[in-house]
Amino acid sequence: MWRPVPEMAISVENTPVPLALLISGRGSNLRAVAQAIDDGRVNGIIRVVVSNRADAAGLEWARAQAIETLVLPHQDSPSRGAYDEVLVQALKSRGVRLVCLAGFMRVLGPAFCEAFPQAVLNVHPSLLPSFPGADAQAQALAHGVRVSGVTVHFVTPELDAGPIIQQSAVLVRDDDTCETLSARILVEEHRVYPEAIQRIIAGGWHVDGRRVVTTPVSET
Ligand code: GRF
Repeated sequence: MWRPVPEMAISVENTPVPLALLISGRGSNLRAVAQAIDDGRVNGIIRVVVSNRADAAGLEWARAQAIETLVLPHQDSPSRGAYDEVLVQALKSRGVRLVCLAGFMRVLGPAFCEAFPQAVLNVHPSLLPSFPGADAQAQALAHGVRVSGVTVHFVTPELDAGPIIQQSAVLVRDDDTCETLSARILVEEHRVYPEAIQRIIAGGWHVDGRRVVTTPVSET
């Protein structure tokens, strides 16, 4: 199993952790994380917002907040590895310590994950391992599950399969459409993602196999 070891703790003393948010679309999770930072719920600072799409609405919002933005269209790269390399360079040169995917519609390869050991997170709109990949809410409705939800997990080269940091359940109603279910799940995403990010920043956890567990105080 893929299991890199972090070189050092993400958080140093109480200094805000430099974050990168990676988006491809509207960026509502980006805004939720930014709000949590402003409220003091996340001890981070958004160093850069990266998108693989120039038309991602979240970019405009980030620019309006005077957050640095970077557009890296994947079509410009000859291979996935080459794209990942450019992305790693862009983030490392800005001192980024924690990478938060927020609707970033692109799979990151082993080189990227190894460059940020246990420091790449993703928010996914289902209770993984059910319904990985695109259109998770539609998949859940089509399958007829009564409960779906949100998962925050570490990113590994396998799609939506890394160790789970946090989950929250959302009940499926008989009259749900993809839009209504997605909207209720999104509310939970905005609550759970900042919480999970802060849990990782705060430390006191380790990955045991697939499980993200609290490290006993005697071992810290
Ligand atoms: C969210 O549902 C997230 O879980 C998924 O993509 C969507 C992004 O939404 N990975 P937004 O761009 O954060 O509004």
